[in-house]
Amino acid sequence: MTSTIFVLNGPNLNMLGRREPGIYGGKSLEEIGEECRTAGHEAGLVVDFRQSNHEGILVDWVQEAADAAEGIIINPGAYSHTSVALHDAIRAAGRPAIEVHLSNIFSREPFRHHSHISAVAVGVICGLGPTGYILAIAALKQQIAARG
Ligand code: DQA
Repeated sequence: MTSTIFVLNGPNLNMLGRREPGIYGGKSLEEIGEECRTAGHEAGLVVDFRQSNHEGILVDWVQEAADAAEGIIINPGAYSHTSVALHDAIRAAGRPAIEVHLSNIFSREPFRHHSHISAVAVGVICGLGPTGYILAIAALKQQIAARG
């Protein structure tokens, strides 16, 4: 049976391609989404790729994933550094979640060095640009298979 995974993107990631390309690269979120759907398809996964600028909507989607998805990949954007609500939602969802950041948050400003999400993620990938999403899809497939 084909598993569905949610790939969730937080605030300002809709601006990719135009937003600080020296940090985040030149690809648009639409292009990254297409690459994720292709990689998912090759891995036998259906990728439901979404973006919101609103914390509560991201919380709603994580809650939805508890019933509608086998796992979650999330780039929470700036909410990584602030959102206890997203931390709680991921903890409660009972689904493996992988946190992705395009940039290396540890080589940037100190306020980016802590993420509230990392403690409830099975793993974290950062600094590898859009490739991080593709690596996360492969890793999430393993996590889902290991859970049976
Ligand atoms: C980001 C890193 C965050 O610190 C930042 O607020 C973002 C993007 C990344 O993908 O590198 O919006 O999550």
